[in-house]
Amino acid sequence: MFGRILGYEILDNKVKINFSNNIEAKVEIINSEIINFFVPIFKKEQKSKAIENLKCVETKFTVESLDNFINIKTNTLEIKIYDEFKVDIYNNQGKLICADYREERNPYVKNTAGRIDIALQEGHKPNEHQEYKVFIPKCMEDNMYFYGFGEKTGHLNKKGYHYKNWNTDDPSPHGETYDKLYKTIPFFITLKEEESFGIFFDNTFESDFDLGKENANYYYFAAVDGNIDYYFIYGPTIKKVIKGYTYLTGTTPLPQLWSLGYQQSRWAYCPDTNVYEIANKFREKDIPCDTIHLDIEYMDDFRVFTWDKEKFKNPTKMISDLKNDGFKIITIIDPGVKVDKGYKIYDEGLKNGYFATDKNGITYTNWVWPGHSVFPDFSNTEVRNWWANNQKIMMDYGVSGIWNDMNEPASFNGPLPNDIKFNEDGNIVDHKEIHNAYGHLMSKATYEGIKKETNKRPFVITRACYSGTQKYSTVWTGDNQSTWEHLRMSIPMLMNLGLSGLSFCGTDVGGFGFDTTKELLSRWVQVGAFTALFRNHTSIYTRDQEPWAFDKDTEDIYRKYVKLRYKLLPYIYDVFKSGEVTGLPLMRALLLEHQDDEETYEINDQFLVGENILVAPVVEQGKKARMVYLPRGSKWIDYWTKEILEGGQYIIKSAPLDTCPIYIKEGSIIPNYPDIKYVGEKDIDILTIDVYRGDKDTSSIHYQDNGEDFDYKDGKYNLYKFDMNNKESLEFDINITHNGYNKFYKGYEIIFNNFVAKEVLIDEKEVEFSVLSGNTIINVNETECKIVLN
Ligand code: GLC
Repeated sequence: MFGRILGYEILDNKVKINFSNNIEAKVEIINSEIINFFVPIFKKEQKSKAIENLKCVETKFTVESLDNFINIKTNTLEIKIYDEFKVDIYNNQGKLICADYREERNPYVKNTAGRIDIALQEGHKPNEHQEYKVFIPKCMEDNMYFYGFGEKTGHLNKKGYHYKNWNTDDPSPHGETYDKLYKTIPFFITLKEEESFGIFFDNTFESDFDLGKENANYYYFAAVDGNIDYYFIYGPTIKKVIKGYTYLTGTTPLPQLWSLGYQQSRWAYCPDTNVYEIANKFREKDIPCDTIHLDIEYMDDFRVFTWDKEKFKNPTKMISDLKNDGFKIITIIDPGVKVDKGYKIYDEGLKNGYFATDKNGITYTNWVWPGHSVFPDFSNTEVRNWWANNQKIMMDYGVSGIWNDMNEPASFNGPLPNDIKFNEDGNIVDHKEIHNAYGHLMSKATYEGIKKETNKRPFVITRACYSGTQKYSTVWTGDNQSTWEHLRMSIPMLMNLGLSGLSFCGTDVGGFGFDTTKELLSRWVQVGAFTALFRNHTSIYTRDQEPWAFDKDTEDIYRKYVKLRYKLLPYIYDVFKSGEVTGLPLMRALLLEHQDDEETYEINDQFLVGENILVAPVVEQGKKARMVYLPRGSKWIDYWTKEILEGGQYIIKSAPLDTCPIYIKEGSIIPNYPDIKYVGEKDIDILTIDVYRGDKDTSSIHYQDNGEDFDYKDGKYNLYKFDMNNKESLEFDINITHNGYNKFYKGYEIIFNNFVAKEVLIDEKEVEFSVLSGNTIINVNETECKIVLN
């Protein structure tokens, strides 16, 4: 296709390479570790929906034309470009880490027994080997692992599998073989012998990843159309790859604190009396809850931005009453706008040409919840601004966040044809180019509208998305089912979402489709309590799955884990705050923190919360014990029994139904809140600090702000630094290293686990303390101090 290399030209940080077949490829040095490869085979312009305001870092690099290749060198990488735009990438020790595959595609042979269509009669379909316009094969190597890819079924490591990116709404059970879901995150991370790199394939068309399924000698990424446009992101640590990827596409911004609390949903709480009833029940049952979601039934015949005033007589009053009791209301808003003359949103959109059209310019309609519906053209800035301004309608009612659903976009009357037209700010583009970014663009509009209207950190949830959506929205994994298989699969799915930049993610706790069981719900809440988005949601026609829907035992277990979540809120918030800079998720695959421990590379059923808490939930019916792997390199403390265990071993942990095995890394300093019913119920004057002494000195930073708006960007926050020195005595220092928010803790309750003190000094003065079950507990009335335990 490309032909021979004719020459090159350097332009700022770009190397433009000319090939004999009249093709110009661009290699752009974003920084010494991130390289973009771009060839305009579809459109001249390089326009990304995921990357906004990309800043290239001034980077030293050299370019040389050698025998049969062009050699580009940064401090970290050596990139060799050959004829046919074949690319090989070496690390700075001269080791080849990513090589283009040069042979012809050679799919595995399918045994058809000489007959093609016999199996079709019973409904079996063969996998077609697709032809692509963009096809980038790379050499597969032994011991290679693949992670990321956003929301995909199956296991943590994707080697040997094939996945598709075409945002799809299909409520049938998503099994392991299901190759496409609601989201397109064309980004993956490879790991081999502790060295890692990532590839972000910035192409919104239908695309595929094949990780050695087609042929074990190569893996590929490919798309049916669009440009060659991909970023190579070097590690060698996975953390650095994620940092690089989120440098390009953005990190998850710090959310409002309440949105990290517990959220209750179902299709659908309706009418208003039902919403009050649910809210009251939470308070009566002493189960913390911050948020209640209103599904489509609150609308007037599913017209978005309206209320059914029969069922919700006075939404403003209802929302305000609930707010007084600490509840925030989230309302669902779908993209499909009901075709209905006289309905403001439809009339305005139609008058201004804001809806997608067919190829003749006629407004395109399909069928969604409201019946005949039209689809806002979110690729257009004016339409996005209009949609953003419409958020005011809901904000004026007092709604606290918006749930964007059905934005693949879903359509009940067959899929939107590929050639439906969108007007991307003057360029007419086809649905096939916009489809995978539709949900992303909708969330962006929603985020911007809420931000403008409230000046608070917007809370948006979306089902469909593209790379970069993390800047605007949280995500949930769509219509899962109340099955053990889906509970099991949610763990690698969420870990991979986290590795793909989407930190704020969760599944429908209890499962959406089918009826949950009390055992399944009890185990699911033990996972949900540690996922960033902690929402129980279920479908219409399914049995109730609120915490109290079964019996007292189930309710008690549920309460235990929701309370644990609230206890850990300051820790979770800290992880989010640092994630805003690092791009790292809350829920982490073990390998992210333990890349030097190969044993962690394929652990599907355990995860870390931040770097300090390891969770090993039970995800099988009837199981009362499980095997747990404790990563190498440190000791781990059983959260429930305080038993100290060596890392680098498998243990068997007994786990009756009310026990989720949890382990804390030695040296951890974990901030805890007291018992609260919801965020903001009371000022947190006394912070509890849960301390797990280790062999090494450790320190940690705790962050505090008003939990709501953007004041923190102007320095209105506090940072508390905790230092623990484990010498002859145990020393614990508390210092404020940033002082910008006017509410400080008045004191602390510090629990030194597994340490029996004989004497405690605070700022050299002896103080009283207590010892309980082998742990020393100290109450401190200072904001900054030095504590010594002998
Ligand atoms: C879709 C959503 C689900 C929602 C339902 C009704 O199936 O995925 O969460 O409850 O639509 O709005």
